[in-house]
Amino acid sequence: MRRLLVLEFACLLVFSPLSMAQDAGRTAPQRMVREPVVGLPCEGCEAVFEGMPRSLRSQARIAPAGTPGQEMTVTGRVLARDGTPRSGIVIYAYQTDSLGVYPRPKTSHGRASDRHGALRGWALTDADGRYRFDTIRPGSYPSRDTPEHIHLHVIERGCATYYVDDVMFTDDPLATPALLRTHRGGRGGNGLVTPVRANDRWQAVRDIRLGAAIPGYPACGAGR
Ligand SMILES: [Fe+2]
Repeated sequence: MRRLLVLEFACLLVFSPLSMAQDAGRTAPQRMVREPVVGLPCEGCEAVFEGMPRSLRSQARIAPAGTPGQEMTVTGRVLARDGTPRSGIVIYAYQTDSLGVYPRPKTSHGRASDRHGALRGWALTDADGRYRFDTIRPGSYPSRDTPEHIHLHVIERGCATYYVDDVMFTDDPLATPALLRTHRGGRGGNGLVTPVRANDRWQAVRDIRLGAAIPGYPACGAGR
């Protein structure tokens, strides 16, 4: 979803040493290490570090409990190229609310993450490479020119960070075959999923292939 990323960060200031120093100072008490961003271009990808909780679990929330909208759970496994599950991989997600808007965060953690809005979360894959996000189903942008989607990024600790293809839904009328052909890049594997409705909750499965179609994927990557 490279085009979306470019659009969403079009208003960001150019990432500068000064802004990096300011952001580093703001997040230093939480985490000192920032893995390099690979898979460029990736404007604003440093947002993955801004506001990251000190302790992560395999199950996390994106939209806080009680957020208006249809409840949704996104689960998946994080796999190496040979299909081996990978534990200890951080998955970062952010999305719109049910109206298709990225709500302004009450507390700013940095200029990049401000663009991601208030609905953000981090999960850490367990011993079987599994992660889970509980959230609401996102709305499509008010302009109605973009399907519903959830943005995902990967942080391979001590190695690199990069974005992967968004979670998108086959039952979204806006997700036409023509549009999907334009946007599907296969970064981190296929992000197109078919959600299932059960017990008043949407369930979607998005597995992630580490390093898949990531330009410049480094030798330290766990996906090799
Ligand atoms: Fe988006």
